Amino acid sequence: MITVAPLFLLVVAVSFTTSLPQQAVPRATAVYANVYSEVDQSGYNFKFTDSLTNLSANYFEDTMDSAIITGMWVFYENVNYNTQNQDKVYWAAGIDYFFNFPEEYRNVISSMRFVGHPDILNADYWTLFDMTLYQGDSVSGTEDATSLGGMEGRAASMALIGNANWTVFTFSYGAPASILRLDLS
Ligand SMILES: *[C@@H]1O[C@H](CO)[C@@H](O)[C@H](O)[C@H]1NC(C)=O
Ligand SMILES: *[C@@H]1O[C@H](CO)[C@@H](O)[C@H](O)[C@H]1NC(C)=O
Repeated sequence: MITVAPLFLLVVAVSFTTSLPQQAVPRATAVYANVYSEVDQSGYNFKFTDSLTNLSANYFEDTMDSAIITGMWVFYENVNYNTQNQDKVYWAAGIDYFFNFPEEYRNVISSMRFVGHPDILNADYWTLFDMTLYQGDSVSGTEDATSLGGMEGRAASMALIGNANWTVFTFSYGAPASILRLDLS
């Protein structure tokens, strides 16, 4: 039985990979932020594949000087995406995109957030934030939304990923706010 187990695992892994839709890129490999304690990708580093509300748990609070990223990432001076204390915000987007933080953003970052579709790189995706500059709480989606739940009447900034044109309404369908994909055809 023990000698059969590895073969079984291999078969499962292969069939899982080939059954994925073609445009789907597994997030764990597609989206990342590899952050470094020094400029020019030097010092020590940590490769994140998801948002972090508190970087001190990963020993990276007030440490970041440079990064290489895929997807859109937002970096905040304070924990919890600056929800309690609005302050410095730095963001970048790209594919294997490398940058040094400008000097005033070095060694201050305490939380970071990935913005975009969780599984498909560059898929049409909207995100609304309840504070300016992508700070605070967020609500997001891939489709038209005739209401925005807890974000109604609160959105202060917006990030759009992908090619779709979207229209944002202050009043629609009797709800205080909604977002709809603009159909140009
Ligand atoms: C952040 O994490 C550190 C270490 O785990 C903890 O001591 C600290 O209380 C956390 N801060 C917040 C605001 O949760
Ligand atoms: C979005 O609108 C612009 C014109 O304002 C148009 O050129 C473009 O093709 C539209 N994109 C899509 C995906 O429909």
